Amino acid sequence: MALNMTFRQLKVFESAARHLSYTRAAEELHLSQPGVSMQIKQLEEVTGLPLFEQIGKKMYLTAAGREIYAYSKSIGHLLDEAEVVLDELKGVQSGRLSISVATTAGHFVTRLLADFSKRYEDVIITLDITNRAGLRDQLEANRPDLVIMGQPPEGVEVEAAAFMENPLVMIASPEHPMASERRIALERFEDEHFVVRESGSGTRSAIERYFAEHDVSFRTGIEVSSNETIKQAVEAGLGLGIVSIHTLELELETKRLQVLDVIDFPIQRHWYVIQRKGKRLSPIARVFKKFVLEQAKEFIRLP
Ligand code: PGA
Repeated sequence: MALNMTFRQLKVFESAARHLSYTRAAEELHLSQPGVSMQIKQLEEVTGLPLFEQIGKKMYLTAAGREIYAYSKSIGHLLDEAEVVLDELKGVQSGRLSISVATTAGHFVTRLLADFSKRYEDVIITLDITNRAGLRDQLEANRPDLVIMGQPPEGVEVEAAAFMENPLVMIASPEHPMASERRIALERFEDEHFVVRESGSGTRSAIERYFAEHDVSFRTGIEVSSNETIKQAVEAGLGLGIVSIHTLELELETKRLQVLDVIDFPIQRHWYVIQRKGKRLSPIARVFKKFVLEQAKEFIRLP
């Protein structure tokens, strides 16, 4: 017996099952809530089984719902793949791609772009590198196709997908007295000076939030807008630093810097690929986003 379900029904169901909410599925797919509930009702009629059940205020998937959810995810992936293949056949390997990334992401994004450009030789890429505050403004103005940053911005509606961890580690010169210590308590840093990024930097605000959450005061020393300069200043003994592990390369291997063993560290963050909500990505931007989500990790080796 062939089931007469449609891709559309499966897509709507997949979103509702992932969020366990018709309202959030409606938001994600830009549909009305009754539109979502109608598609799911039709799918339940086709399958002949209820897919959701409501207990109290909470929605759950039924056993049939869980099965259909697994299939709808696989079908969704296959359709995405088909779309990329079709785009390639249509020749969308070319075009213009405008990407803006956080200063810190600048440390790995060139490696990503190098590989991407090898596959899509005719794409003209514009890369802008700025801090978190700058990226927020760019998203608001709907300028770049895609943005890579830590944590989605506040006050702008975006679609954000995490693709990789972004641990922030504490670094010191190997001569620093704490360099040989183990399991250092965060409170011990109350009297230390940190070489920090400028305000408006995502790294800076994540650090300040983290210290505030742990009720430990955070003293800033020199303020600079480049991670490279932070590393050089720390190496020269101007203070301690907290940076994304993605900014560290040979400094650890060559023992010019050392990661301190601090309790409750690293600060765990993630990298996101972000677009303005409702933005219609060009085919090449879609291909790039998929590339980042699926393959970025392979190109970015941690020290
Ligand atoms: P930053 O951003 O380079 O502005 O610090 C990185 C981040 O958002 O984590």
